[in-house]
Amino acid sequence: MPTLFPDPHSPIPGVRPIEVPRADYLLWAKRRPHPANDLGRSDVAACTLADLPGAREALELTGRNDEGWEPLVHRVAARYGVGPDHVATATGTSGANFLVCAALLRPGDDVLVERPAYDPLLAVPAMLGASLVRFERRFEDGFRLDLDRVAAALTPRTRLIVVTNPHNPTGVLTGAADLRALGALAERHGCYVLADEVYLDAVSGAAPAAAATLSPRIITTASLTKAYGLAGLRCGWALADTVICEEIRRARDLVDGTGSVLAERAAAIAFDGLAALAARARAMLAPNFERFEAFMAGQPALEWVVPPGGTVAFPRLRATVSADAFAERLLRGFETAVVPGRFFEAPPHFRVALGISAGVLERGLDAIGRALLQDAIS
Ligand SMILES: Cc1ncc(COP(=O)(O)O)c(C=O)c1O
Repeated sequence: MPTLFPDPHSPIPGVRPIEVPRADYLLWAKRRPHPANDLGRSDVAACTLADLPGAREALELTGRNDEGWEPLVHRVAARYGVGPDHVATATGTSGANFLVCAALLRPGDDVLVERPAYDPLLAVPAMLGASLVRFERRFEDGFRLDLDRVAAALTPRTRLIVVTNPHNPTGVLTGAADLRALGALAERHGCYVLADEVYLDAVSGAAPAAAATLSPRIITTASLTKAYGLAGLRCGWALADTVICEEIRRARDLVDGTGSVLAERAAAIAFDGLAALAARARAMLAPNFERFEAFMAGQPALEWVVPPGGTVAFPRLRATVSADAFAERLLRGFETAVVPGRFFEAPPHFRVALGISAGVLERGLDAIGRALLQDAIS
């Protein structure tokens, strides 16, 4: 019997090999085991319909959503204090990222992408025929977005600069002043910035302003996935200058046309209850973050850049060049999943989920501690 998911790296005889650029992290994330102590995710634990009061009764398959279900578009716009013509809806942040790239990039363009990176942000521009140019975010600099490094990487063909804020995988936040300066740099150079802000609402304290509201050269993409536990709705959007927004909507005409009105109705209800959903997330994230900080304080074999809250942490193994074997041992011997840093071009690191139940985090950290102890003894 043919396997459901043939290994994409070994082509089936007689069939052209798959040529889509690899997003190895996504492939791994879709097929990985989910052990009892699953510290491999990056979102807040999933809501159910019961977390969206009124949703069950309001769900309906009808309604015009040619350019997004209007009540949803208006709610997204109100959330950011912008007009609805600055909002283009999409299937998750993933869909929004794809549409922004499809709207802006053509073969021969250069795209600057941070390193470490979330790999679809590399694979999508590559698939569209753009050339990747990289700039570093370094552990030694606290993984901050260094504008001098961005400026030094610009080329005459740079069309787009891609960043995540907070940064996936480290959770490090870029502040408003640096984002404004990044927007100004893009403006001087005649290019744009894609700021994937899917994790922004999960930072602790007052929500920072979306980057797109700070500069007309910045396009923000986001969704309800990470900070609100609503990955299942696939509700994403781009915030941009009105002209770029219209280009993004026209790109959507060529991809999936429109979203699901059923999901968009539910997403509009989620927006009405966003404060309660944020409180639900905070109640999970804040104590888990404290717990993780305490754990790190007792682990001499690990070091990290402390992010301002968020749904993930990204510790580094001090004595090792790759966390691969460590992650594998956690999985096989301790029923614990973490994400190996190699998926983000940072092999000595591993990523740990914080948007999970306190019990699972506790058992997972205990397992990590025991595995590190084994290393220290052996
Ligand atoms: C930086 C980044 N962008 C986008 C996504 C996907 O988000 P969505 O579920 O909104 O498509 C992820 C998920 O891991 C991510 O880390």
